[in-house]
Amino acid sequence: MPCREIDVRYRPYQPDDDIEAITELLHRSYAPLAEMGLRFHATWQDAETTRRRLTTGHALIAESGGTIIGTVTLYGPWPESPCQWYRRDDVYHFGQFAVHPDLQRAGIGAHMLEMLEADTVRRGGRELALDTAEPAEHLTRWYARLGYRVVGHVTWEVTNYRSVVMSKRLV
Ligand SMILES: CC(C)(COP(=O)(O)OP(=O)(O)OC[C@H]1O[C@@H](n2cnc3c(N)ncnc32)[C@H](O)[C@@H]1OP(=O)(O)O)[C@@H](O)C(=O)NCCC(=O)NCCS
Repeated sequence: MPCREIDVRYRPYQPDDDIEAITELLHRSYAPLAEMGLRFHATWQDAETTRRRLTTGHALIAESGGTIIGTVTLYGPWPESPCQWYRRDDVYHFGQFAVHPDLQRAGIGAHMLEMLEADTVRRGGRELALDTAEPAEHLTRWYARLGYRVVGHVTWEVTNYRSVVMSKRLV
């Protein structure tokens, strides 16, 4: 439940959105994970990578007072993925998920995931999945609370940890 009233507008990513600002938002939001020693791609990726990760999926933007304060991208089935679960034709997954540090823990992230879950079903998916660093237990606990269960593990070349893959059955 939101503990603060924040006026937030949710909309799809637009090509004229400020990629440098989104990259900066990602670096700032993910900084505590870097401090934990977890080298999430979003802690260090460049702007071009941000653009690619936004535009290869369906990116959602959260805006407040004209400033981008959150983002997450939904991806469809990925038949050649190193992550076996993502290869399934009924599995969508999300990534590049951040809310501005000053606005975290107010329900914005949960609302964005609700929107992605509805979008997944609209597009014909039956499962919404994610992967995150196994040691980031505050995240795996939260996703479990939202109905995501562990379905496997994957290790990406760009990170320095094993990821746990979690998924929520939607239909
Ligand atoms: C994860 C993230 C996008 C969620 O957005 P949000 O707006 O904060 O989400 P909500 O307010 O709906 O819920 C956040 C929940 O995550 C957990 N959480 C997030 N940060 C936490 C922290 N530093 N310590 C403990 N729990 C934390 C809590 O369970 C929290 O719920 P609670 O406040 O009711 O206990 C945001 O916290 C963020 O940008 N974090 C840094 C980047 C990141 O972890 N991205 C996801 C990688 S898989």
